[in-house]
Amino acid sequence: MRTLVIDHPLVAHKLTRLRRHETSSATFRLLAEELVTLLAYEATDNLQVRPVQITTPVAECMGVEMAEPTPLVVPILRAGLGMLNGMVKLMPTAEVGFLGMVRDETSLVATTYADRLPLQLNNRQVFVLDPMLATGGTLVAAINLLLERGARDVTAICLLAAPEGLRHLEESFAGRDVEVTVVTAALDDHLNEKGYIVPGLGDAGDRLYGVV
Ligand code: URA
Repeated sequence: MRTLVIDHPLVAHKLTRLRRHETSSATFRLLAEELVTLLAYEATDNLQVRPVQITTPVAECMGVEMAEPTPLVVPILRAGLGMLNGMVKLMPTAEVGFLGMVRDETSLVATTYADRLPLQLNNRQVFVLDPMLATGGTLVAAINLLLERGARDVTAICLLAAPEGLRHLEESFAGRDVEVTVVTAALDDHLNEKGYIVPGLGDAGDRLYGVV
């Protein structure tokens, strides 16, 4: 597994604002979107492209364009939805599939309540959006579902990650013939007894959308 912790002053600045408890939902949504676009730039460093011959106003030359099949972007509901605009801004031709997962706050086990994904993902590059890599339970379950459908190249974009979650992912996909990459703005210190990332930013879904 490949882990990219993006060390960039703009990323750190936006993340710091996102973490502050006084940041309003409206500002949080805006910052999350901007942050994802910055992370998406790094997360697409191995995007499949194909050569294409073009004509500029001056001469013919070779360029590249995104290869087929088009990548699939999968926000994990509900909080991943707050990352979608920032991602498709960078890749407007990507397709979007939705995965609804919820973790039981006591057992921390993730269950799937919505699956709007293609049945066949052979040769598709898949980008999963999940703001908080905490225990890793949700992300491991989501990536396993994508691998069962034929995906072999999955990149998870997370605003924040905890060491416990990264370890869970590493152990789950070690030795398997799959490319799994995690891209995050920061690797935080630890999880608390309720499974929250410390120092973290709180409940990402609540901060994006308010408490339901
Ligand atoms: N999910 C969140 O929204 N926040 C955390 O800190 C951990 C999981």
